[in-house]
Amino acid sequence: MCGIAGYTGPKEADSVLTVALERLKYRGYDSAGLAVLAEGDVGIRRAPGKLKNLSDLLAAKPLRGHTGIGHTRWATHGAPTECNAHPHTSNDGKVAVVHNGIIENHEHLRRELTAKGCIFRSETDTETIPHLIASLYTGDPLAAIRAAVGRLEGSYSLAVVFADKPGHIYAARQASPLLVGKGKREMLLASDLPALLPHAHQVCYLGEGEIADLTPEGIELWSFDGTPVTAAFAPIEITAEAVSKGDFDSFMAKEIAEQPTVLARLVDSRLRAGRLVEPDLGLDLKAVNHIVFLGCGTSWHAALLGKRFLEALARVHVEVDISSEYRYRNPIASGDTLVVAISQSGETADTLAGLRLARAKFIPVVGLVNVVTSTIARESSGMMPLLAGPEIGVASTKAYTAQVMAMYLFALQVAKAKGLLSLAQEESAIAAALLIPELAARTLALCEAEVAEAADLFASAHATVFLGRGGEHATALEGALKLKEIAYVHAVGYPAGEFKHGPIALVTNQLPVVCICPKDAMYEKMLSNLQEVRARAGRIIVVGEQGDRALQDLSDHLFPVATSADHMLQPLLSILPLQRYAYHVARRRDCDVDQPRNLAKSVTVE
Ligand code: F6R
Repeated sequence: MCGIAGYTGPKEADSVLTVALERLKYRGYDSAGLAVLAEGDVGIRRAPGKLKNLSDLLAAKPLRGHTGIGHTRWATHGAPTECNAHPHTSNDGKVAVVHNGIIENHEHLRRELTAKGCIFRSETDTETIPHLIASLYTGDPLAAIRAAVGRLEGSYSLAVVFADKPGHIYAARQASPLLVGKGKREMLLASDLPALLPHAHQVCYLGEGEIADLTPEGIELWSFDGTPVTAAFAPIEITAEAVSKGDFDSFMAKEIAEQPTVLARLVDSRLRAGRLVEPDLGLDLKAVNHIVFLGCGTSWHAALLGKRFLEALARVHVEVDISSEYRYRNPIASGDTLVVAISQSGETADTLAGLRLARAKFIPVVGLVNVVTSTIARESSGMMPLLAGPEIGVASTKAYTAQVMAMYLFALQVAKAKGLLSLAQEESAIAAALLIPELAARTLALCEAEVAEAADLFASAHATVFLGRGGEHATALEGALKLKEIAYVHAVGYPAGEFKHGPIALVTNQLPVVCICPKDAMYEKMLSNLQEVRARAGRIIVVGEQGDRALQDLSDHLFPVATSADHMLQPLLSILPLQRYAYHVARRRDCDVDQPRNLAKSVTVE
C-alpha cells in the first residue's frame, strides 16, 4: 500500500527521499511524488507510473531544500494520475500532505470545505486533509493538526509540511504504521524500516493516536489530546544489505533461496539442549481446546497446514478463517479458545481487525508474524516471531515456509503441554524438523533444471490446475496463487479428490495439471488422479520423489523433491519447485516478479 517518507537534516531532501521511496516501492504503488521546503515555499513534483518518471522529472526540474516529504501511492480513490498523486496541497500552496490509509468521511468533509471556498483538484480522499488543516491554521501547526485529526474518520498516517515552518515535518498516526528514524543531526520518517536506511541508526514507532514534530535536532511527541509522550528509540537491527537483492536478479529469487537458512534459524531458535522450548506466550497451552487461525492469502494457506498439525499432534479442534470473513461474523468464543493471527507484515488490515474483534471478546490472541515491530505483534497477547528477515518481494515465499514450520513447532508444544508427546516422539519430531533445511536446499538444487524446462514449454498456457491431497492441498492452493499473482496466469488449486466433481471438465491437451504426489498415505489415490488426467490428454507436471518410476511414466515432467522423514513436513519441500515454477513462468512472460501489477505487499486497507 502507499508509502510515506520524510527527511529533515543537512542533506538534499530530494535525494534522500527518492532512495527512501525506492525502498518502499515493494509495498505496491502506481504513482509517486515529493514536497520540499525552500525559502518559504513548498515545491511539489509528482508523476504517475514508475519512480523513474519522478526521478526524470526531478532531473529536469530539481527541488532544492533540506526538508521534505515523499509518497508512493497505491490508488484507492481516483485513478493513478498526476493530479491524484500525493503530496496534496492547500489552495494557497502553503500546506502539503502525504497520506496512507482511507479517510472514510471524506465526502462529507469535501462538501463542507467546498462550501467554504476550497477548490478541489483531485478525486482523492486525501485532498480534504491539507484543505482542512489550512482552514484551521493560525500559525500553530500542532493546534491545526490536532483539530484536523479530530475531524478525520478512518485509518491514516500523515506527514505534513508548512511553508512557514522550515526544518519541521509533522506526522500523525491512526491505525496505519509510521516510523521515525534518528540519524546524525537528521530525522527521517517512513512507513517501513528499510526506507530509514542507511541514514538512521535508531527507530521509534509512532503509537496509535500520536502526533510528532520532527526537526534535525530531534522529535517532540504528543497524543491527539495534547498530552506529551516520551519518544522511545531502539537501535535499528537490520542492515542495508538485508534489504538489497545481492547477487540475485530479484528479491523473490533471493527470498526463495534463503529458505533453508530461514528454516534452520527458526528451528534452532526453538530448541535448548535438544528439547523444544515454549515461546513465552503468557498462556496455559494445556487449557486450550479450540484454536482459530486467521490469515489472508498465503498466510491463510499456511493456516490450513497449521490446522492439520494441531489436530494430528495435539488433538485440538481448529478452525481456519479468512480474516476478512471472520471480522464480519459474530464468532463463537469460549474460555478455552485461542486465536492465532498469522501475518508476514503484521499490518494486514483484515487480520488486525479480526485480532481486535477477538480481543474485544477477551479471547487471547497469539501473533505469528515476521515483522516483530508491527501492529499485530504489538496488539497480540503473545507473539511467535517467524525470524524470516525482511521479505521484500510482493509474493510471499520464505515467510510461507517459516509460517508452516512455526505452526509445526507450535503444534508440538501444545501436544507437549497436554501430555500427548512422549520424549521419544519429541526427539523424532525435532530430528525431522532439523533435517528440513538441508532437504530444502537439496530440493531447490534438484528441481531447477526440470522446472525451467517446464516453464519454457508452458509459459504461454492460459490456465493451470494444481491438485493435492491432505497437506498438499494447501501446497496446491499456494502454488496456484504464486502463478496467478506474479505470472498473471489463471490458476486454481483443488483437493485432488474433488477434481472429478466438476473441474475435470477443464482438461484438454492444452491444460497443464500440476499434481503433488508425495509418498504418503494418499500416494495411490494421487496415482488414480494422474490416470484420470492422462486419460483426457491433460499435460501433467508431477511434484514427487526423484526417480519414482510410476510418477515418471504417468507425467510429462517430474519436479523432483527430497523426502522428509515426517510426512507432515513434506509440504515444506513440495512448495519449493512451485515457487520456482511461478518465478520462471513470470520471467518468460516478461512480468515484474517483485512488483506484480495491482498488488501491494502490506495490505493496510480493507
Ligand atoms: C501472496 C501474498 C499475499 C499475502 C496476504 C497476507 O504471495 O503475499 O496473499 O500473503 O496479503 O499478508 P500478510 O501475511 O502480511 O498478512
